[in-house]
Amino acid sequence: MNRRIYILNGPNLNLLGKRQPEIYGHDTLADVERDCAALGAELGLETALFQSNHEGDIIDRIHEARDQAAGIIINPAAYTHTSVAILDALNAFDGPVLEVHISNVHKRESFRHHSYVSLRADGVIAGFGVQGYTLALRRMATLLA
Ligand code: DQA
Repeated sequence: MNRRIYILNGPNLNLLGKRQPEIYGHDTLADVERDCAALGAELGLETALFQSNHEGDIIDRIHEARDQAAGIIINPAAYTHTSVAILDALNAFDGPVLEVHISNVHKRESFRHHSYVSLRADGVIAGFGVQGYTLALRRMATLLA
């Protein structure tokens, strides 16, 4: 069975570590990629991390995941709160989907309280900092066992 997990990241997350560190912390997306790859090796999962500032690119990756990945971990960033198109793409993916937010979106502005992606996600992690990605990966291993 395919043991590849796509870790998809939406807009502005390329600036992770530099952007609003009081909210998102000092770790970069490269740190997240390295930590997930190391944990994935322990769990017998191969990780592939992507980031895009463009909605269509994220949708294309989700389509690609249909035959390239066993599961998707996604931080859609601001598209969480706006994108029916990303929800529709995730609904066309058969494996587990886990939604990650670095910050606790429920403690923030009310427009961040609604997530289209949560209508599809099998689990949601918010407010655990970048550790949320590795926690999601552990959960993914359980779901795929
Ligand atoms: C975020 C929360 C979103 O509301 C925000 O637009 C982001 C990042 C998070 O990881 O906490 O860009 O998804």
